[in-house]
Amino acid sequence: MRKEYDSARAAARGAAVDDLSLDVRPGEVLVLVGPSGCGKSTTLRMANRLVEPTSGRILLEGEDVTHVDAVALRRRVGYVIQHVGLFPHRTVAQNVATVPRLVGWDRKRTASRVDELLALVGLEPARYARRYPHELSGGERQRVGVARALATDPPVLLMDEPFGAVDPVGRRRLQAEFARIQREVGTTVMLVTHDIDEAVRMADRVAVLSRGAHIEQLASPLDIVARPATDAVADLVGRGRIARLLALGRLDRADLDAPASGGAGDGVELGAELGDVLAAFVTGDRASVPVREGSTVVGSVTPASVLRALRRLTDDAPDTTGAAETGAGPTEGADEPVGTLPS
Ligand SMILES: Nc1ncnc2c1ncn2[C@@H]1O[C@H](COP(=O)(O)OP(=O)(O)OP(=O)(O)O)[C@@H](O)[C@H]1O
Ligand SMILES: [Mg+2]
Repeated sequence: MRKEYDSARAAARGAAVDDLSLDVRPGEVLVLVGPSGCGKSTTLRMANRLVEPTSGRILLEGEDVTHVDAVALRRRVGYVIQHVGLFPHRTVAQNVATVPRLVGWDRKRTASRVDELLALVGLEPARYARRYPHELSGGERQRVGVARALATDPPVLLMDEPFGAVDPVGRRRLQAEFARIQREVGTTVMLVTHDIDEAVRMADRVAVLSRGAHIEQLASPLDIVARPATDAVADLVGRGRIARLLALGRLDRADLDAPASGGAGDGVELGAELGDVLAAFVTGDRASVPVREGSTVVGSVTPASVLRALRRLTDDAPDTTGAAETGAGPTEGADEPVGTLPS
């Protein structure tokens, strides 16, 4: 799909979103990441028609929603706006209750849901419910924004830099908390960030975009980090790539040496994070560590095995050991996509 903003200056810059086609699968977290101005927010806002596409179609759960009533559409699609957008003259509780009230929940059900959600995002209801947005920090406001979007468990959630203003520690916590809720409820999420670490931590699939919302690569977090498809992706992954690989990559059978004789100690599990495997050598003074699958020792590893694993992951051939995916463009899957933006 395509979006050209109307102003003459905007037209001179070219389309904000130029010929993008994207499927979001049911229950997945798809993260859009890319530099400022590349068209992430525009893409997200076209999905709930806060921005009307210049051309193209939007499908939601198989239904063409390009021309349905936009307000009704937005009730089915939760939205966490960049820079929060809380109603300034409504309290925290009233903000979170926005959609439940719109869809006609009674007072009691709404109130208990509001308390539940505030607790969930780490804002004690007794302390926060009656405050106004200007009485909150930026990070607290963002949490209210997340709580508000989750209020009625929408099947589809659009999130634009939802954790941008939260400090790194709070941010990790909120990300983990959100991932837990998302898995529990099975929400389909399209999330925008320009933090590559947030992208690879949160995503089932990452779409790296460049100007005009052009897809540089659409793949699993591991593939994005291990095998950047273009220079733009390589730049984004850039420094810290090995550290990211240690967190994303897992110990495979192919990385093992034969079981060492008398390999004592706890050892590591087959499938452990490579970073944890390496840690076994940092803390203990040993050259080789046994690898277990359940209670069976299936081999051993040395620091060299970790290097080998990193080379395996960054090898040009696609990784066949995990459920990883490669390549740009819409991927074929057994699942019907929930939301699609065909061009
Ligand atoms: N209402 C608008 N009118 C004209 N041009 C716009 C409008 N909104 C966005 N643009 C332009 O469209 C392009 C894409 O903007 P968009 O907000 O989608 O970027 P973004 O990837 O979300 O950036 P950021 O990371 O800074 O939030 C930019 O060049 C921007 O200047
Ligand atoms: Mg934006």
